[in-house]
Amino acid sequence: MRKILLITSSPRGTESLSTRFATEIAHGLRSQGGGSLTVRDLVANPPPHITEDYILGRTASPDSRTTQQNVAVERARELVDELCAADIIVLGSGMMNFGPSSQLKAWIDNVIWPGVTFSYATGAPQAYLLARSFI
Ligand SMILES: Cc1cc2nc3c(=O)[nH]c(=O)nc-3n(C[C@H](O)[C@H](O)[C@H](O)COP(=O)(O)O)c2cc1C
Repeated sequence: MRKILLITSSPRGTESLSTRFATEIAHGLRSQGGGSLTVRDLVANPPPHITEDYILGRTASPDSRTTQQNVAVERARELVDELCAADIIVLGSGMMNFGPSSQLKAWIDNVIWPGVTFSYATGAPQAYLLARSFI
């Protein structure tokens, strides 16, 4: 069964156009092709900003991490696992002050993980295949 991941990121609540469009697209995909739908609302449940604990923790071996590093790494791991499990990702984003919302940027910071979601092995950043479709 295919897995659809809907990510919404607008701080404008019920006024948000990107949340409305992305939600309609995700529900349309599910009603046409079936599958499960997971909703990740980055405003209702904002990912933490990345910290020194996260940056040091993700390169440390699991048995040498501090408790705080473990917490930071496990939080990010949950987001990465959810992302990697998806066959289709529908991401709603509006422009906020010349970039994505800060909630979406925090999510990006958590899931862009060297050796896990991308690699420099070829000399240039290369994303690992995450989803078969990205909308
Ligand atoms: C705080 C704020 C900052 C914004 N900054 C920009 C911007 O830098 N560039 C732009 O083209 N639109 C900007 N807009 C307009 C939004 O992109 C527009 O309202 C869009 O619909 C927001 O996405 P949403 O409807 O999903 O919330 C801004 C809107 C708000 C509320």
